[in-house]
Amino acid sequence: MESWLSKFTCFHCLLFLLLNATHCFSFVQTQTRTLCHADEHSFLLQFKESFTIDKSASRSPFAYPKVTSWAQEGDQNQSKCCSWDGVECHAESGRVIGLDLKSSCLYGSINSNSTLFRLVHLQMLDLSDNNFNSSEIPSRFGHDLSSLSYLNLSLSAFSGQIPSEISKLSKLSTLDLSQNNGLELRKSNMRILVQNLTSIKQLHLSDVGIYSTVPNILVNASSFTSLNLSYCGCLVYTQTLVIFPTFNRTNSFKTLDVSSTNFSGELPNSIGNLHSLNYFDISYCGFDSHVPSSFGNLTQLSFLEMASFHDVSAGQFLVPDSLSCFGKLTKFSYLDLSDINLQFPTNLEHLNLASNYLQGEFPKSLFHLRNLERLGLSGNNLSGLVEFDEFSNLKKLKVLGLSDNRLSVRVKSGSSATLPKFEFLKLAECNLTEFPEFLKNQYELGGLYLSRNNIHGQIPKWLWNATRETLVNLDLGSNFLTGFEENPVTLPWKNLQLFNLANNRLQGSLPIPPQSITVYMVDNNNYSGEVSPLFCNLNYLQVLDLANNLSGMLPQCLGKSSSLEILHLMFNSFHGHIPPFCVNKNSLKFVGLGYNRLQGMLPRSMADCIQLEFLHIGNNQISDIFPSWLGVLPVLKGLILGSNAFHGIIGKPPTDH
Ligand SMILES: *[C@@H]1O[C@H](CO)[C@@H](O)[C@H](O)[C@H]1NC(C)=O
Ligand SMILES: *[C@@H]1O[C@H](CO)[C@@H](O)[C@H](O)[C@H]1NC(C)=O
Ligand SMILES: *[C@@H]1O[C@H](CO)[C@@H](O)[C@H](O)[C@H]1NC(C)=O
Ligand SMILES: *[C@@H]1O[C@H](CO)[C@@H](O)[C@H](O)[C@H]1NC(C)=O
Ligand SMILES: *[C@@H]1O[C@H](CO)[C@@H](O)[C@H](O)[C@H]1NC(C)=O
Ligand SMILES: *[C@@H]1O[C@H](CO)[C@@H](O)[C@H](O)[C@H]1NC(C)=O
Ligand SMILES: *[C@@H]1O[C@H](CO)[C@@H](O)[C@H](O)[C@H]1NC(C)=O
Ligand SMILES: *[C@@H]1O[C@H](CO)[C@@H](O)[C@H](O)[C@H]1NC(C)=O
Ligand SMILES: *[C@@H]1O[C@H](CO)[C@@H](O)[C@H](O)[C@H]1NC(C)=O
Ligand SMILES: *[C@@H]1O[C@H](CO)[C@@H](O)[C@H](O)[C@H]1NC(C)=O
Ligand SMILES: *[C@@H]1O[C@H](CO)[C@@H](O)[C@H](O)[C@H]1NC(C)=O
Ligand SMILES: *[C@@H]1O[C@H](CO)[C@@H](O)[C@H](O)[C@H]1NC(C)=O
Repeated sequence: MESWLSKFTCFHCLLFLLLNATHCFSFVQTQTRTLCHADEHSFLLQFKESFTIDKSASRSPFAYPKVTSWAQEGDQNQSKCCSWDGVECHAESGRVIGLDLKSSCLYGSINSNSTLFRLVHLQMLDLSDNNFNSSEIPSRFGHDLSSLSYLNLSLSAFSGQIPSEISKLSKLSTLDLSQNNGLELRKSNMRILVQNLTSIKQLHLSDVGIYSTVPNILVNASSFTSLNLSYCGCLVYTQTLVIFPTFNRTNSFKTLDVSSTNFSGELPNSIGNLHSLNYFDISYCGFDSHVPSSFGNLTQLSFLEMASFHDVSAGQFLVPDSLSCFGKLTKFSYLDLSDINLQFPTNLEHLNLASNYLQGEFPKSLFHLRNLERLGLSGNNLSGLVEFDEFSNLKKLKVLGLSDNRLSVRVKSGSSATLPKFEFLKLAECNLTEFPEFLKNQYELGGLYLSRNNIHGQIPKWLWNATRETLVNLDLGSNFLTGFEENPVTLPWKNLQLFNLANNRLQGSLPIPPQSITVYMVDNNNYSGEVSPLFCNLNYLQVLDLANNLSGMLPQCLGKSSSLEILHLMFNSFHGHIPPFCVNKNSLKFVGLGYNRLQGMLPRSMADCIQLEFLHIGNNQISDIFPSWLGVLPVLKGLILGSNAFHGIIGKPPTDH
């Protein structure tokens, strides 16, 4: 602000200079005072010199090394350092009060003798998105920079304990220490931090390891507008989230994100007192309570995320995290929406209640939330009929999840034109008997999930015509599909990543996926013939599941993939030798080749499958000595060799000693 002001004034000076030189004289006097002080000039330069510039130190695409423009000048007493990129001086005193070096490609350590701590007038300091090489946060931040009101050290590779001295920064209103994986906060420091930072408005500690039962530390935090404790993974917390009860009506909390933490207990009714709340995320926590009716009083709420905790170990391969918008199946918390008086704030744009225990009929009151853009109700226990037309009221809806309830979705014909344009649609297990006709007009669809319905017959051409360019995830598993209308040799979707047609009645030859594919699952169909060599060049393929009636030799290339994690080729009629696996850098975790007609020896390169957890080659015709040498695999948990021709002694795995 100040620097903008001085530029503005300078422009005026120029005008005045042209019009009235005497008038301007006094201004020039003022300007000299905004020259940088010689000492601070040199502190800045020394600070700069303590780092190297490394492009990879910053992640932002807009990152650039601001400090390269900082340079020694002839006369330090006339230094222009106030106009250096990222430096802001007080308009009158000329003291450096702001340093914005976010995303500046700085790499190196900060220790307590850094000249940064000599810039004692700093009010704003942003060092986020650099790489400080696992430095600890020096306690001098708290001792020497007592004027700070904004401190952002996020995403900068700090580690170690957050020093309690930070709490001496009594003017601090924003503290962001998030996304420094190695940072920790001890119980005692947490208490001191929150008790003493009396001006704090925004506190962001996501990803910080907090070894503390969060005591009643937050109860007096009525100055907060934003609190982000998401992914504070080690948060040891067994009681109710105690933030809310003590809030009186004067609080101005806007953002509260405690997702993916161990917070648990009941949401108190007094949550309704957070009347300014706009963003509320308690997903993947342990909350086990009713949604209090006071929710209806949160009139400003536009983002409500309550998806429950998901089990990372289950299903992570089916829907890679990066592709999934909604929570997974495991149910941890209990939510009662049966209170029919429950009114959601009408402003809501984002409501995600996936993977909970919602019961009863689909809540029709949701159709009044005209601003909804995302609605997630998958994985609950809702029942009854949903007239899909009613979503025509929600013009802004882009993401909708109704999967895995006990719902029957009924789509009237002729509703295509009025329904919103979806980007993501989950209607798995919705008692559909045919492909909903409105999909013809869905030109923006990126994810379509229709698995576990009763859809018979062919996949109509109009289904893929509209979505050729956009579709990324397609899940039609567990239906009664027999094939594609106009059987494609190659799949028509150019950007497809997830393709699941498992458990259908498909036949003929395997359709060839596009280069972008990561998950290809067609197990439990009647596909036959050989695996095309075109499967060889799929650089992103992680999961290949082909249990069918396939024959021929296994493509040699499969063993060379560096991306493949799960290879499931069991229950086919493949013959010939097992190709060498893991000859290169590899990610293989699961290899299932059982129930085929494979012959020859087990390739010795498998000793390099160092991430392999499970190997099934049972029921083949492998003829080899007993593979004790597989004992070197560090994480192997399951090995099935039965019904082959292994011979020799079942020996101990070789060891280092
Ligand atoms: C710069 O200012 C300091 C005092 O602030 C003075 O001692 C020094 O002589 C000045 N240097 C020059 C080159 O004017
Ligand atoms: C980063 O830390 C490592 C390990 O402490 C050290 O060897 C290396 O010199 C440091 N690099 C810089 C630029 O400080
Ligand atoms: C800062 O301290 C380190 C040791 O902790 C020392 O190697 C370095 O020379 C010091 N730097 C300055 C500018 O004093
Ligand atoms: C801190 O910096 C990061 C990265 O530059 C930015 O995304 C974040 O919004 C900042 N935090 C606050 C509270 O301003
Ligand atoms: C916190 O504040 C109390 C009371 O103002 C003070 O006695 C204490 O020293 C402060 N703690 C820290 C670590 O600054
Ligand atoms: C909250 O503030 C009151 C009064 O300022 C004080 O007595 C009480 O100890 C504080 N509670 C906590 C948990 O910090
Ligand atoms: C509500 O909180 C504010 C801010 O902490 C405080 O100034 C005010 O006295 C409190 N009001 C009541 C009624 O407790
Ligand atoms: C909280 O922090 C996490 C991780 O840094 C981030 O993904 C999330 O968007 C933040 N929440 C808010 C409301 O900014
Ligand atoms: C916190 O959550 C983690 C991950 O879910 C879990 O392993 C741990 O046991 C939990 N801790 C407590 C105290 O509940
Ligand atoms: C909602 O706010 C009104 C006015 O402040 C209050 O009377 C009412 O009790 C609140 N409702 C709930 C359910 O908290
Ligand atoms: C599925 O839909 C049919 C009508 O198409 C209906 O008879 C049946 O009851 C529905 N099943 C469930 C579980 O709702
Ligand atoms: C395919 O889409 C185009 C527009 O992209 C449309 O004109 C054409 O009618 C569609 N064909 C079928 C068979 O749906």
